[in-house]
Amino acid sequence: MLKPTITEQINAQLNREFFSAYFYLSLSAAAESAGFKGAAAWFMAKHREENQHAMKLYRYLQDHDAAVVLGAIADPSGEYAGLLDMFEQTLQHERGVTEAINDLVDAALTARDHATHIFLHWFVTEQTEEEATVSDIIAQLKLVGERGEGLYLIDKELADVAATMNQALAAPVA
Ligand SMILES: [Fe+2]
Ligand SMILES: [Fe+2]
Repeated sequence: MLKPTITEQINAQLNREFFSAYFYLSLSAAAESAGFKGAAAWFMAKHREENQHAMKLYRYLQDHDAAVVLGAIADPSGEYAGLLDMFEQTLQHERGVTEAINDLVDAALTARDHATHIFLHWFVTEQTEEEATVSDIIAQLKLVGERGEGLYLIDKELADVAATMNQALAAPVA
């Protein structure tokens, strides 16, 4: 049995994860339009990953007989001034998600909800990994600047990473 405040905050996070999925889908569309097929595949893999994050929360709520409340998902469309800007906006977004996860962990501790606390550890670790991955990509993009060959190589590498991510995503969560 989850406390109402925890149920409410997990549902808010569920919505945030679906927004993340939507945000990455908009980035994938923008990257593909700009000719970066590898980055488009990378953002698409992230889109699928974020849907799985949402479904982990969905499953947690169901397993605890807590109500799943599906709210409206905000419009994710934004302006992107090139690949570097796309990844900088990604990092900014993920930092916001990390903050939200931290708030959720605080809420679980305050409520002495140990099951939720332990469940959230996976998300804490995931956020660290996501921020680190995106920071690395940003560093590479800053190194190459506007040089076409460099951008081409980074885009190719992102395609490879996306293929690996898609393999890991093959198993359904919920
Ligand atoms: Fe996520
Ligand atoms: Fe994420």
